Amino acid sequence: MTKGLKMLYEGKAKKIYETADPELLLVHYKDDATAFNGLKKGSIRDKGYYNNQISAIFFKMLATRGVSNHFVELTGEREMLVKNLEIVPVEVVVRNIAAGSLAKRLGKSEGTKLPFPVLEFYYKDDELGDPMINRYHIKALELASPKEMDTIEEMALKINEILLAYLKPLGLELVDFKLEFGRHQGEIMLGDEISPDTCRFWDAKTHEKLDKDRFRRDLGKVEEAYQEILKRLKGEKTDV
Ligand code: TMP
Repeated sequence: MTKGLKMLYEGKAKKIYETADPELLLVHYKDDATAFNGLKKGSIRDKGYYNNQISAIFFKMLATRGVSNHFVELTGEREMLVKNLEIVPVEVVVRNIAAGSLAKRLGKSEGTKLPFPVLEFYYKDDELGDPMINRYHIKALELASPKEMDTIEEMALKINEILLAYLKPLGLELVDFKLEFGRHQGEIMLGDEISPDTCRFWDAKTHEKLDKDRFRRDLGKVEEAYQEILKRLKGEKTDV
């Protein structure tokens, strides 16, 4: 599908191609995996396929629940057509349970339930190592207007509520996740991906990690975790 199309950008996990319509882009999901701001490099077999399919399921589901997002349609196993967003360079992290960098920074043991969802913002800048920022920094750097940030916060918390309710019957705990937003024809909408690369999913019974932490922490059975998430989202019988 990407044959003959001009590649606009290659990121760590995706390639973005131009299409004949300037309002639309083609996203190709790669098997490449990185962690710790690119310091750890590897590849996860068929990750591109899993993350494309998983993101499509989430984006479609969110659209039916009133969350505007960039997804248009799947165009291949590893490719989707999306709306061309002007990305707001702020990574929005929502946390329900202490894990990862929050657990480390605040001295909380992993698995401690937070009393309410905790929102964090990071400046999307690889050279700076994506530093954590707050709304004052965002305003001072003119990354987004306060009104846009109100919308982004409201959307992020709504997405969290929807995902929690959607994943619970599938036996999945949504520990935390990262979102990116962008502007399209004057509207703020959800972009990027929603996948085991950008979320922490734990099995509700065993607390087994079913996400990229298996790669980050060398836990083994990495491909199996991505496959398991797709299976559960598709309502297929699971092995875990
Ligand atoms: P953290 O605990 O490492 O800060 O990660 C919080 C969440 O954000 C976790 O679900 C993984 C996701 N994430 C990304 O999607 N990209 C990143 O670069 C990082 C650091 C985290």
